[in-house]
Amino acid sequence: MTTYSGRYPASRPRRLRQNNWIRSLTRETQLGPGDLIWALVVHDGAEDEVPVSAMPGTARLSVRAAAGAAKRAATLGIPAIAIFPHIDTRKKNAHGKEALNPDGLVCQAVRAMKDAAPDVGIMVDVALDPFTDHGHDGLLENGAIVNDETVKVLVEQAIVQTRAGADIVAPSDMMDGRVGAIRAGLDAAGHQDTLIMSYAAKYASAFYGPYREAIGSGKLGSGANANPGDKRTYQMDYANTDEALREVALDIAEGADLLLVKPGMPYLDIVARVKAEFGLPTYAFQVSGEYAMIKAASANGWLDEERAIIESLSAFKRAGADGVVTYFAPKAAALLGA
Ligand code: PBG
Repeated sequence: MTTYSGRYPASRPRRLRQNNWIRSLTRETQLGPGDLIWALVVHDGAEDEVPVSAMPGTARLSVRAAAGAAKRAATLGIPAIAIFPHIDTRKKNAHGKEALNPDGLVCQAVRAMKDAAPDVGIMVDVALDPFTDHGHDGLLENGAIVNDETVKVLVEQAIVQTRAGADIVAPSDMMDGRVGAIRAGLDAAGHQDTLIMSYAAKYASAFYGPYREAIGSGKLGSGANANPGDKRTYQMDYANTDEALREVALDIAEGADLLLVKPGMPYLDIVARVKAEFGLPTYAFQVSGEYAMIKAASANGWLDEERAIIESLSAFKRAGADGVVTYFAPKAAALLGA
């Protein structure tokens, strides 16, 4: 598309910026609470809130408090919440077995939240890293994350989560073929209407740092079994763009309903390209490190926090995202609603 304009002095672009009313009329992108998916960490402890130090202003919530958060989302006009679990390390093992427990933390939280606020969509992460003692998203054998064996477990995990009431399952593990396998598994179990949001283009990123504290992730590279110190054999290389499109194409062919690009702000080019090429509902994840950067700079007085939040979220929409997964959701919704 070409945009036409005349020449100075007949054309003066500043005319369209001189007042609030004309800026409002010419604004190309709108951001509202309805664009937000609230990223929320739940834990299996008794305390209602355990602050996450690397992410000031967030806390791990008990199941009870998570139910309260779901009600709050409904009041704020936030359509959906994505939950991420922090479980007692004693429940972790090499196989991440706790991921399949129908009475585990995630299932309890989903049930409590759907009870409290049935009209708020609940999204769950399909991946094993909150449950494995080695911290990887899949099963580890002789120093390698084994793909097909992991996919089988992920299918079971998605079915267990769906039975608990999850509306969207979101595989964030980056195993090959998992979207198709999860779709087939859900359908066979009678869950044709469960949505799949695929972390279609997920990069191996330093920006997930604070999340490791938030969910108490096992330390990569530690322990037995030649544990790799990073996730680069399954998450994407940040140098690549074409590869993201191939990943997305595969996930669409396998049945993904919604697409997610992650991390967010350093990857707006990927968001723009994925949306332009495929046109599916596309979301960006403003990840823990992005949250932490805005909070840390604001705490130092180097950024205006509220403006930085709204500007960063608006940038995702401008790039083509239909919505944003963000830890700032309740704060942003309150600011936008005000
Ligand atoms: C893992 C998962 C991660 C995040 C969501 N799901 C971390 C990782 O891939 O290493 C990161 C979220 C964030 O940083 O906010 N399945």
